[in-house]
Amino acid sequence: MSLKDKIIISKLPEHVAIIMDGNGRWAKRRGSERIFGHQQGIKAVRNVVEASGELGIKYLTLFAFSKENWCRPKAEIDALMDLMASTIKAESETLIKNNIRLLITGDLDCMSSAITSELQKVTEATKNNTGLTLVIALSYSSRWEIAEAAAKICKDFNAGKLKEINEEVFARYLVTAGIPDPALLVRTSGEFRISNFLLWQIAYAELYFTEKLWPDFSKEDFYEAIISYQKRERRFGKTGEQCK
Ligand code: FPP
Repeated sequence: MSLKDKIIISKLPEHVAIIMDGNGRWAKRRGSERIFGHQQGIKAVRNVVEASGELGIKYLTLFAFSKENWCRPKAEIDALMDLMASTIKAESETLIKNNIRLLITGDLDCMSSAITSELQKVTEATKNNTGLTLVIALSYSSRWEIAEAAAKICKDFNAGKLKEINEEVFARYLVTAGIPDPALLVRTSGEFRISNFLLWQIAYAELYFTEKLWPDFSKEDFYEAIISYQKRERRFGKTGEQCK
């Protein structure tokens, strides 16, 4: 029985989020520049997008660039931005053909308008697709998102547009409004950190860490993460007996 066959389709996580880590180390181990690792990471992106589409997962969010990543050397940032924009442009027909809707989330004001307009063209072209929703978190950080939401809530509350503030209202002010919370969060490269990613949204996500560096992450690795998720009991604060 293959790993894929072990997956119970009726118990798929509705939303999988991934912290794609280890590109730099992957390249360094081969005596190459860090950007070579990012380039090779594109294959792993294809693996998880294809696998998600084939299985019928509804939402896949990939952490492609954090707000903290703007502190990296300029040459690496420029190369990464070019790589992401050119990849998304080149894959646009494939996204359309495979009924994939692309969303970009993050502080796009920090990005060059040349890149954001390329990305917008693809989000526009795929906006009516009904299969997998692929969310690319770009220039994204959770504390930034939460602080922005709080500021907008205060403004609307003071303007009388909001009568009360609760969890459901707060979630509507996040950049991920309308997207269900991730049920499964995967991080590669043997690091056990969340790194300011979707802090509000992963309150009840199952966490899965693997030693694999991102460029080596295969469809089989993705299936293993889902199988691990499916073996867990998600109690959401209830007792095991209540969940049976
Ligand atoms: C973290 O590895 C990886 C990144 C900061 C970039 C990830 C981006 C891609 C794989 C491209 C994605 C493209 C699209 C179109 C979604 P790292 O550089 O921190 O690795 P290290 O921890 O080994 O140094």
